[in-house]
Amino acid sequence: MRIDIMTLFPDAVDAMMKASIIGRAQERGFVTICTHQIREYTTNKQMQVDDYPYGGGAGMVMQAEPVYQCYESICRSIGNSRPRVVFMTPQGRTFNQQMAEELSREEDLILLCGHYEGIDERVLEKIVTDNVSIGDYVLTGGELPALVVMDTISRLVPGVLNNGMSAVKESFSDNLLEYPQYTRPEEWMGEKVPPVLLSGHHKNIAAWYREQSILRTAKNRPDLLEKAELTEKERQWLIQQLEGEERHHE
Ligand code: ADE
Repeated sequence: MRIDIMTLFPDAVDAMMKASIIGRAQERGFVTICTHQIREYTTNKQMQVDDYPYGGGAGMVMQAEPVYQCYESICRSIGNSRPRVVFMTPQGRTFNQQMAEELSREEDLILLCGHYEGIDERVLEKIVTDNVSIGDYVLTGGELPALVVMDTISRLVPGVLNNGMSAVKESFSDNLLEYPQYTRPEEWMGEKVPPVLLSGHHKNIAAWYREQSILRTAKNRPDLLEKAELTEKERQWLIQQLEGEERHHE
C-alpha cells in the first residue's frame, strides 16, 4: 500500500512515521509513505500558500492552486488519475475501525492536511473523495489526524504486524473492547493474576476473556455494547454482574 500526505509540515509527519512498527513496515516494503510539501507548489516568490478569506472573517485560507498542483504531481507519480483523497477536517465523518479496514484495502491513498482556517472549497470539491474527522474537537492542523489515520490503517496491512492474530482479535473487532492482560510476576503489590489464566484450561480461559470483554464494554462503552452480538445467556450474566457490583458499592 502507498500513502501520500499533502502537508505544510512534512518533517513532523516524517519524524513520526520513521518510528516504531510503521517505520519497520516501511523498511520491509509493506507500506510506502511519502510526504509532500504543498508550499513547493506555489508560484509566488514568497512561497505563500494562504490568503485572506473572501467575505471577511478571522484567519487565513489555503489557496486552491498549490493544493491542486501538489495533487496532480502525486497522481502522475503514482500513475492513478482518480485516487482516494481523504481530507482531514473536523467537519468530516468520525473515523473508526471500520473505516480504517475499508481504507486499508486501497492500493493508493492520499491524505490532505489543512491549516489556518481551511482550504479553498473549490479545490476540495475537485479532488476530495472522503472527509474524515478523528473526533469532536478542533486541532490546529490535519497532521496529527493524518498520523492517527495512517497508523491505524498501516497496522491492518497484511504483514505489518508479525503476529497475524493480533489485528483480528482486538478491541472493536466485534464491537467489544479487549479483555485485561497480565504478565509476570504472578503477584505484584499484593495483587494476584486471575487464577483461571494460570489453569492451562483453554476453554475456561476463552470464556473468561469473553466475559471480561463484555463487562468492560458495558462499563466503559455502553454505546458499543448495543451493537455487539450477545447470547441471551450472556445478557442475563451481565445483568447479574452489574447488579452484584451495584450492591457491592451500596
Ligand atoms: N483538523 C482539525 N481538527 C481536526 C479533527 N478533529 N479531525 C480531523 N482533522 C482536523
